[in-house]
Amino acid sequence: MSEKFPILVTGGAGYIGSHAVLALRDAGWPVVVIDNLVTGFRWAVPEGVGFVEADIGDAQAVSAALTAHQIGAIMHFAGSVVVPESVEDPLKYYRNNTANSRTLLEAAVTCGVRHFIFSSTAATYGIAETIPVREDSPKRPINPYGMSKLMTEFMLADVAAAHPINYCALRYFNVAGADPQQRTGQSTAGATHLIKVAVEAATGKRDHVTIFGTDFATPDGTGVRDYIHVSDLAAAHVHALEKLIADPASSHTMNCGYGKGFSVSEVLDAVDRATNLKIERRFEGRRAGDPDALIADNSKILATLPWRPQRDNLDLMVKDALAWERVLAERGK
Ligand code: UFG
Repeated sequence: MSEKFPILVTGGAGYIGSHAVLALRDAGWPVVVIDNLVTGFRWAVPEGVGFVEADIGDAQAVSAALTAHQIGAIMHFAGSVVVPESVEDPLKYYRNNTANSRTLLEAAVTCGVRHFIFSSTAATYGIAETIPVREDSPKRPINPYGMSKLMTEFMLADVAAAHPINYCALRYFNVAGADPQQRTGQSTAGATHLIKVAVEAATGKRDHVTIFGTDFATPDGTGVRDYIHVSDLAAAHVHALEKLIADPASSHTMNCGYGKGFSVSEVLDAVDRATNLKIERRFEGRRAGDPDALIADNSKILATLPWRPQRDNLDLMVKDALAWERVLAERGK
């Protein structure tokens, strides 16, 4: 492979972005992070990584960073990610996820950045027509979050057709776990994601976990999801970058999941197994818009990239999430 040029990671102080920074560094890529620190943490950016505190909607700051650091590729994680909030405040999502992505893309094109990797989501499918869901399945988001990401996918396709830039949009399924070396992990307060909520309960930060819905069309009645370890997901980004460089005429949109589903009850059982304790489970009705099951067909990413999951195991995901939760507890967080 040719010489390694600097990569700009937007949202690199956040949960998934900070794992991507580690994966890039571990693979020898120079990295610069741009993050407004609204949900990210300055401490999550390791020493030796350039840091620009700015919003990606700030065109001048973005262009200055691209030029000053001679950025060759962008990994774009910055954005808002809370589905119910997107329903209450859609314009926030169309600003942070769509309009700001447009600003970033314009700066990328103007400054001659050649490769762009985008954090997309399974929320672009809405209620999936088939399980497992393929990339060419209908995209009918059922919330502004999914729509705001899908709009950026459309922009990317048009921009790549018009300019010398190629892209990879990675549609994440349910991201969980933490860096196995505990250098970073999910740290944002007020988490709503199941595995994070469950390990908070297991470490005493909460007194119970609520199971939302027991009447889904699934084997045990609770919702089924495809959980992917954040370190495997970060590794997929590095492979995607290498693919875009090796094959500059190609762009790709790929699911990121293991192609396996676990129910809410199975996830909570795994957390109980890891601690030898029993988390208190309470039961409520379904959350609005929760599908019965969402599982990736991951054959495309497996065929396109040499990416092979290293931590495709629910117990490992739980173990790493739990270890990180204990690190946070020691820090008084
Ligand atoms: N759940 C509970 N109790 C909780 C939290 C979650 O029972 O306290 C259940 C949900 O009902 C669902 C499953 O656990 O069945 C997973 O829920 P999460 O909130 O962890 O994740 P979602 O599947 O709702 O959302 C994920 C991503 C979103 C993305 C979406 C795509 O986090 O960013 O998948 O459908 F948009």
